[in-house]
Amino acid sequence: MKHSTVSAPAKLLLFGEHAAVYGHPCIVTAINRRIFVTISPTTEKKLYINANDVGIKNYTKDIASIGKGTIPKEVQFIELAIKEFVKTYPKVIKKFPGIQITTKSDFSSQFGFGSSSAVTVATIKALAVLFDIKMNEKKLFTMAYKTVFAIQKRGSGVDIAAAVYGGTLFFITGGKTVKKLPIDTLPLIVGYSGIKADTVTLLNQVKQKSEKYSAIVADIYNSIGNIVKRAKQALVTKDFVTVGELMNINQGYLESLGVSTQKLSNMIYAARSAGAYGAKLSGAGGGDCMLAVSTKATEKKVKQAIVHAGGEVLEVYANAEGVRVEL
Ligand code: MEV
Repeated sequence: MKHSTVSAPAKLLLFGEHAAVYGHPCIVTAINRRIFVTISPTTEKKLYINANDVGIKNYTKDIASIGKGTIPKEVQFIELAIKEFVKTYPKVIKKFPGIQITTKSDFSSQFGFGSSSAVTVATIKALAVLFDIKMNEKKLFTMAYKTVFAIQKRGSGVDIAAAVYGGTLFFITGGKTVKKLPIDTLPLIVGYSGIKADTVTLLNQVKQKSEKYSAIVADIYNSIGNIVKRAKQALVTKDFVTVGELMNINQGYLESLGVSTQKLSNMIYAARSAGAYGAKLSGAGGGDCMLAVSTKATEKKVKQAIVHAGGEVLEVYANAEGVRVEL
């Protein structure tokens, strides 16, 4: 039977998180962990979702009620992605009575690697393939951004850009600028704090801080934006000493926004003490992951130090391919 499978990569924020939500640039890299979405038509007028990795088995809904009623958190992004697709292409959906979706991820949704955005992107693209619709990257980005925005109410769209375009991107809010950086090596070490953070909660906390201390937070965002611009240059010229130093400065600002945690800070300081050029948290903060850059010579020591500080080292590589049609 006709079906489509599409995969999209996870991501790591290298620089500029949080400020990115408010019009400032950031740098993201797609990593070698992917989520796979398979969609096939069904004969009943139903939507079926199986997403074992997040504990969803045989979720069933009438096609006519997609996007309505209470939607479990684990299937929200998939269901609203379908809603966005149907809204955009109302005629084409009549081709099949219903659809069945299966997702499979080769990374845990606990890591803060952008699994929600990756699954949204892969779902929309898999629908486009199934319904023979030509969809360019920009259109895919826009539809996925609308979907995620409808759920989270705010966000820059950077996770979506990484899932769509892949590589390492210089990105400005809403996809105003999406520039692939010519980077081939990126000696990253990634440590997971063991704590799952909730992006929306963190975004709301930072928003509250910016309302109370508007001038101060505006200055912090501007400085983060300047770090990002300088980091872009350092990354492209493989000046990892500067990349590391800029990570440390960026981390200072993230601390001042209140999104680091004791555990993350312990891991970050441990990595620096073990000889890393620099280290910072990655993404929304509150848990999830930290990253460090180091030489080959100090890599082992840095990894050991992260583990000693209670973290788990994850073997991930930067610059992965964007969304991909598998079959
Ligand atoms: C999350 O990966 C990055 C944040 O800046 C949120 C966003 O840009 O949407 C915290």
